[in-house]
Amino acid sequence: MDPIANPFSPGAGSPPPELVGRDPTLEQARILLGRVQQKRSEKSLLLTGLRGVGKTVLLNEIELLAKKVGYLTIFIEAHENKPLGPLIIPYLSNLLFKLDRAAGVSSKVKRALAVLRSFISAIKLTVQDVTISVDIDPEGGSADSGDLEIDLPNLFVAIGEAAEDRQCAVAILIDEIQYFSQKELGALIMAMHKIQQRQLPLVLLGAGLPILPGLAGESKSYAERLFNFPDIGALSEKDAGRALQEPAQASGVMFESAAIKEIFRLTKGYPYFLQEWGYQAWNIATASPITLQMIHTATTKVIPRLDSNFFRVRYDRLTPGEKNFLRAMAELGPDAHRISEIAEILKIRVNSLSPVRARLIKKGMIYSPAYGDIAFTVPLFDEFMIRAIPQFKI
Ligand SMILES: Nc1ncnc2c1ncn2[C@@H]1O[C@H](COP(=O)(O)OP(=O)(O)OP(=O)(O)O)[C@@H](O)[C@H]1O
Ligand SMILES: [Mg+2]
Repeated sequence: MDPIANPFSPGAGSPPPELVGRDPTLEQARILLGRVQQKRSEKSLLLTGLRGVGKTVLLNEIELLAKKVGYLTIFIEAHENKPLGPLIIPYLSNLLFKLDRAAGVSSKVKRALAVLRSFISAIKLTVQDVTISVDIDPEGGSADSGDLEIDLPNLFVAIGEAAEDRQCAVAILIDEIQYFSQKELGALIMAMHKIQQRQLPLVLLGAGLPILPGLAGESKSYAERLFNFPDIGALSEKDAGRALQEPAQASGVMFESAAIKEIFRLTKGYPYFLQEWGYQAWNIATASPITLQMIHTATTKVIPRLDSNFFRVRYDRLTPGEKNFLRAMAELGPDAHRISEIAEILKIRVNSLSPVRARLIKKGMIYSPAYGDIAFTVPLFDEFMIRAIPQFKI
């Protein structure tokens, strides 16, 4: 069928034709946004889930929701090698300029600009570096200690007070939040702690890998009282069916139920894979309905495509030792495993696996769902590892 009219959207952060199965999280976000706007305290949301489950898409949707009810928003994506300070400054200055442009002078907004100016000088950035010109003197002694865990909370409070003065609310959305260092994460948590104590209209909404709750807890033990960590997972069989059938139906095309069943069996309901299979099946089909046979043909296209893109980019970042570890782990299947089981397969002592385990966690390839357990962060990665290294020798 016409590839131009193909409704499916495999990609990173590309909005799906139908955002199914996420209503409870959207409702949680709606309540949080409403309460913060009325200066009532509520736990912030940090969405957690494996690669390709739809965290970015959901965070974008929450940003739209926030804008709709009158929030000023900023959306930031954290990177492996970019510190929080320089990353966030241009967004915050933009935000403050927007607040400053509103009618009438606000001393609170001017003060927030001055605090931002101190914050910038403290992290030793020239104004040109962050392409902003804050045409105001820094406020000495505020947010310029050079210690992020002191400065960021002060800066957030100044921004919260500026927003309050303008009778508006601010939402800071951060994707891939697990990439921040422990110190940076600690600073963000402390900043939100202060904001909640003062009941200022500023909210943090984030998304990251399932290692996030652990990282936050390690950083500050009270994190669990400040944040909810909704688990964004695979879709149920019913929702997966809707994610395929409804967009197709909107174009007058049907999936046979056996076709849907087969896609669910292969994808286990993981959103990114559903989009891939839907996309290829659509292009292969010549007319409605899309049959089981067509899915078999689609599968022969999708698997090599996934192997050479989605899985490969991650595989190529691994050292031989890391590949060996993951290949041994793949022998055990897709679920969580004890490190001792992997050591057994590799016929080495558990202790000697600790460094490689730590590196794989840092690279975001595996995480620990429970103490002593590890699991893949990328769905179906076990099957890929077996295809990538079919002859596994220890
Ligand atoms: N609820 C949903 N129903 C159907 N498809 C979805 C849903 N959510 C996301 N998708 C699709 O899944 C794919 C991955 O979404 P997204 O990039 O948001 O995932 P992610 O969790 O941010 O992944 P990563 O951890 O790699 O950044 C996209 O193609 C998107 O269209
Ligand atoms: Mg994402």
